[in-house]
Amino acid sequence: MTEKSKLHNDATRNTDGSVIHADNIRKLYGDVAAVDGITFKVEPGETYGLLGPNGAGKTTMMRMLAGLSPVDSGEIMVAGIDVVKNNRAVREVMGVVTQHDGLDGGLTVFQNLFLFGFLAGLSWKDSKNRAHEVLEFFGLRDRTKANTYELSGGMKRRLAIARAMMTSSNVIVMDEPSTGLDPQSRNRVWEELAILKDAGVTVLLSTHYMEEATTLCDRLSIMDHGKILDEGTPDEMIERHAPKEIAQLRVAPASLRTVRDYLNEREISFREVGALVSVKGVNGDRPDLSGLEGTEGVQTTFRAGNLEDVFLAITGRELRD
Ligand SMILES: Nc1ncnc2c1ncn2[C@@H]1O[C@H](COP(=O)(O)OP(=O)(O)OP(=O)(O)O)[C@@H](O)[C@H]1O
Ligand SMILES: [Mg+2]
Repeated sequence: MTEKSKLHNDATRNTDGSVIHADNIRKLYGDVAAVDGITFKVEPGETYGLLGPNGAGKTTMMRMLAGLSPVDSGEIMVAGIDVVKNNRAVREVMGVVTQHDGLDGGLTVFQNLFLFGFLAGLSWKDSKNRAHEVLEFFGLRDRTKANTYELSGGMKRRLAIARAMMTSSNVIVMDEPSTGLDPQSRNRVWEELAILKDAGVTVLLSTHYMEEATTLCDRLSIMDHGKILDEGTPDEMIERHAPKEIAQLRVAPASLRTVRDYLNEREISFREVGALVSVKGVNGDRPDLSGLEGTEGVQTTFRAGNLEDVFLAITGRELRD
């Protein structure tokens, strides 16, 4: 038996074949509709993303999915369990990584895992064995006896993911798994998520990093103000909403005026963020900036459309406002 198959068993499914199905979920906080009629499905083995800015409703949605917060209306099914009616049972089949790790800093790495499993209902022996399995799988074995407070931010996050795998190995939800991590630790977490995916684990994650969504997600929803604005594979979303190519001009302050005048005269729309001027092509063509070639203080590069552009196109705002 390989490590992979040892960690993972096939997911139980809902009657419609999905592993997660949220149907028309609503949640009000006072007058604010934190989640305002959200519907989506995650299929077995899929990595599905909720991509949205601060306050979009991602955490609220994930907490309801994990049975940690009641819904106002709607239905949630996870691996055949009706979460609205049976919010405890869902945590036996689904691992949860919350936005704040909630690890116990006074315990060792092993103790954190073991205790979590034991308190979640595994026997002493099963929890011990499982903790060793999970440590091996996540490459944390040499850290078994380290105190949790000694770990780097990236390792803590990996431990939190490992912990979510203690009792369930089929489906896992993660709220912003890499937020606050340095690029190197983020890469490690991404590698781990790729390994989980490879092992057939169904993953739902929330993020406000378009790169994370592009790299990891098979499909994703763009969320804003408690609603899903569109859903699809990253490529489909880019195809549907983003320009094919975008010119980016790095402009020295003394040349800004020349660039603005050039674009305005030709009625070419552009966005200016600091010294960076972005120009989209029209109808898939490259924007014609030939007249700016050789202008002193202007460096032009072209890049492909991405999920940031999708978000901007759908909402009129930047993802990282
Ligand atoms: N316990 C609460 N009481 C009142 N309002 C809340 C509560 N939790 C969330 N909200 C509000 O609900 C909306 C959605 O918040 P939520 O935390 O779900 O967003 P998010 O997408 O997770 O954002 P972030 O990227 O910052 O984590 C926000 O307007 C927020 O202020
Ligand atoms: Mg959140």
